[in-house]
Amino acid sequence: MKILVINGPNLNMLGRRDPEHYGTDTLPSIEQKLAEKEKALGCELAFFQSNHEGALVDFIQEKAAEADGILINPGALTHYGYSLHDALLDAGLPVVEVHLSDIHAREKWRQKSVISDVVIKQISGLKTESYLLGLEALINHIRSGECQ
Ligand code: DQA
Repeated sequence: MKILVINGPNLNMLGRRDPEHYGTDTLPSIEQKLAEKEKALGCELAFFQSNHEGALVDFIQEKAAEADGILINPGALTHYGYSLHDALLDAGLPVVEVHLSDIHAREKWRQKSVISDVVIKQISGLKTESYLLGLEALINHIRSGECQ
């Protein structure tokens, strides 16, 4: 089972961003923690990060056909990334949206996710744990569909 793990703008700067919101892990350390679960969960992860919405759209368009699901933290594109929304919709794959910080307890503009209608689940506010739980939820969802 192949999962695309996608991170949007500024998430390459984790470790240097506000630890109150985002914790202290860097993106490579989050990816490492996810990769350590590959065997136990029986999945193969493909990681991608970009600061550019079009590059995220290109990646999704290129890789969706060979993937079973998408785990994504779109960064600030969460709140206004309509072309990212459409790429996720067109991919036709189960998507789990994760956030390190609790977007619902922050500024008003962060409380709205424009991708929420195309995701099967949103996990927000658990720092690195959001990704780990998000991956498990995504895989459980895909597996439950396989048995039907
Ligand atoms: C974020 C929340 C966004 O509002 C913010 O722009 C980010 C990270 C999070 O993981 O908490 O860059 O998606």
